[in-house]
Amino acid sequence: MDHFLYRDGALCAEDVAVAEIAAAVDTPFYLYSTATLLRHYRLFDEALAGMPHLVCYAMKANSNQAILRTLAEAGAGMDVVSGGEYARAKAAGVPGERIVFSGVGKTKAEIRAVLEGGIRQFNVESEPEMQAISEVASSMGVIAPVTIRVNPDVDAKTHAKIATGKSENKFGIPIARARQVYAEAAALPGLKVVGIDVHIGSQLTQLEPFEAAYKKVADLTQALRADGHEITRLDLGGGLGIPYARSNEAPPLPTDYGALIKRTVGHLGCEVEIEPGRLIAGNAGILVSRVIYVKSGEGRDFLILDAAMNDLIRPAMYDAHHDIVPVIEPAAAVEHQPYDVVGPVCESGDTFAKARQMPPVAAGDLLAFRSAGAYGAVMASEYNTRPMIPEVLVHGDQFAVIRARPTFDEIINRDTIPAWL
Ligand code: LLP
Repeated sequence: MDHFLYRDGALCAEDVAVAEIAAAVDTPFYLYSTATLLRHYRLFDEALAGMPHLVCYAMKANSNQAILRTLAEAGAGMDVVSGGEYARAKAAGVPGERIVFSGVGKTKAEIRAVLEGGIRQFNVESEPEMQAISEVASSMGVIAPVTIRVNPDVDAKTHAKIATGKSENKFGIPIARARQVYAEAAALPGLKVVGIDVHIGSQLTQLEPFEAAYKKVADLTQALRADGHEITRLDLGGGLGIPYARSNEAPPLPTDYGALIKRTVGHLGCEVEIEPGRLIAGNAGILVSRVIYVKSGEGRDFLILDAAMNDLIRPAMYDAHHDIVPVIEPAAAVEHQPYDVVGPVCESGDTFAKARQMPPVAAGDLLAFRSAGAYGAVMASEYNTRPMIPEVLVHGDQFAVIRARPTFDEIINRDTIPAWL
């Protein structure tokens, strides 16, 4: 459930009409709902009630300072994957003991910065990385808490570009080698092994792959304890999918996922961390765009929008479907017709939807892409020198621009001309 609903024929974000915001900030822009974000965070938190846990929001999904601050104030931890994300989390007021650091390529500079600022744990992805963390921590005279990310060789049954738990993927160490790698970790100075980490992919719409992976993690926990390791923490990753199309069957709910976690690893007495990103932010955001032209093509009509692939890359990159709805509610009886929905960028890949059935649309109309709060703004670029679009946050009947659109001068002045020119 989200808080983008029609009221009196107008799409609203919580208690504010989307058209009112469009008039104030100009299109295109991202628009987020505080109530939806918090609702989704709390669903996870409540799903794990009764067991020691921390919901570490995967901030790669949406890392705007206002979004992070909103979630941090509700008690969320953060999953970060770069020195930059760590700095953002700290700037938003998240204490180090609530931040976990994931990712296959942590540099020594990042490891050092994070150890200086405080960290809950490193999720280690390889033996060379384990060595690097050991070296940096030892040189600083500190102990780095670590989990080791295991690759359980489970098919997440999701888009190949966002599946991470098969042996052919670059992530984690093969679970079959885990006992050996834990023994190596225990022998290294500057490290304290605290648990196990796993993450099998994103936009999972079934629970079975999670179940298969978490059972393997439970077995490994017992085996590692028998080897003498103190396993007190399990980081179970993120990945629970969201309904991108209203017409589709909805993926499992966080409550079902929480019950699965309790069923598979609850008996181990470990503290559990999860790293959801998409389910917290995805349906808490929309992308609002205006139709520039309606162009009649050969056998098809194109809606040419002022938003483009550089603003929302998911359709071009993953063939992702986003529902597109008019900001003024169409009459229920109106007949739908097919449109190819495209942006102004000079590539045919700049296509949001083909033959999408929609109510009649005219130039100047406002449209909203649903489910755009996760992996939307964070994956945007300034291709075609199209300025990064503003982000706006709604809270009840208030709204605020949480990232402004840069001016052309601001964009141009980031470049520098060398002395010889
Ligand atoms: N933890 C780790 C280690 C991850 O790699 C990811 C996502 C998450 C947590 C969060 O997964 P989520 O709950 O959001 O599914 N750009 C793609 C998604 C890439 C996901 C990468 N890793 C998209 O737009 O679909």
